[in-house]
Amino acid sequence: MLAEPLVAESGRTLEFQAAFRSLSMPVLMVDAHRVGHPIVFANDAFRRLTGYSGDEVMGRSWQLLRGPATDPGTLDAVDAALRLGTAFETEILSCRKDGVPFWISVAVSPVHDEAGHLRGCTLLLSDISAKKQAERERIDMERHLEGEVERRTQDLQSALEQKTALLHEVEHRVKNSLQMTASIVLLKARRLQNPEARKVLQEIAERVSALSAAHRLLYAAGDVSRFNLKDFTTELAGELTLALPKGQVDLDLDIQPLGVPASKAAALALLLNEVIGNAVKHAFPDGRQGRLTIEIGRAENGLKIAVEDNGVGLGHLPPSEGNFGKTLIAMLVQQLKGQLTWHDMEPGTRAEIVMPVDAEEMQFE
Ligand SMILES: Nc1ncnc2c1ncn2[C@@H]1O[C@H](COP(=O)(O)OP(=O)(O)OP(=O)(O)O)[C@@H](O)[C@H]1O
Ligand SMILES: [Mg+2]
Repeated sequence: MLAEPLVAESGRTLEFQAAFRSLSMPVLMVDAHRVGHPIVFANDAFRRLTGYSGDEVMGRSWQLLRGPATDPGTLDAVDAALRLGTAFETEILSCRKDGVPFWISVAVSPVHDEAGHLRGCTLLLSDISAKKQAERERIDMERHLEGEVERRTQDLQSALEQKTALLHEVEHRVKNSLQMTASIVLLKARRLQNPEARKVLQEIAERVSALSAAHRLLYAAGDVSRFNLKDFTTELAGELTLALPKGQVDLDLDIQPLGVPASKAAALALLLNEVIGNAVKHAFPDGRQGRLTIEIGRAENGLKIAVEDNGVGLGHLPPSEGNFGKTLIAMLVQQLKGQLTWHDMEPGTRAEIVMPVDAEEMQFE
């Protein structure tokens, strides 16, 4: 209970009352000591905001502003500030006299007398419905945008999956067609009496098979855009050296796990087939023993491939009639924008190819 009226009607106080009454900001003054913190003063702006006149609210608890959706925890927090006489600010979903809910901000300020005793509290109110509405719209918009981003991401993901599946399918079909072509050529070769003609057809079938193997590796790979050079070369070298008697030539592979763009796969597959095939076919005649080394790794600005044998050397025999391999090798190296050098190793031959490939493109995860 207040010992004296909070608003004593002395001259100075009347001036203050008049000032508060005409303030454009809604103001309440409450008795901090009585249960329910009854209102002892309300200005005109409060009436305009809430629909309650000053007379109507006098002596009633400030909580007459609560509505069905008001958060009880927030009311308790304001009550605690009023009881303790501490400054406090919060936002409350309250209710107008006509039952319309609206958001207000409430700033509690304690009022002390000259002796420092708590006499009451003022509550400065402000209508923040527009701010809350804007906040709700922002949150709705954010949710909408998040949903939209998620939907688009899913669309892109499924488009990517479809594209990958399609590429796998294409590689699969290309490989099958090439394999079928090689089989047809081989079937024809077997029916020919002329050994020269048969050999030519067999060599064509081998080249087509090398291309088919490249496409097989491409469709089997998770990342269809990369050609796994290590797997391909290891498989190819193993297959080509099968033509030699066991133990005649040691195969030495030093191949880094590198990938190249799938667009280079066919040219590289053919190139490796020609260079390794030449070493197997020509370097070790008459049961000559030896070693075949294949190195693949990074070079400055790209990829380096070296195929080296310690066989008879390039000039040992006159080139076979109608030979085409070295021309094809030169054409493929040119297509790959690379550089080719032949080295006479005395004994043996080393073919070295350096070609530009973007360092990132060679990286396998
Ligand atoms: N590593 C090698 N060691 C020894 N001689 C080689 C080697 N590579 C190529 N030659 C020689 O160079 C010649 C030309 O090779 P090229 O690949 O052009 O023709 P080919 O292999 O004889 O026939 P094709 O490749 O058209 O089937 C070969 O006939 C062979 O005499
Ligand atoms: Mg050849």
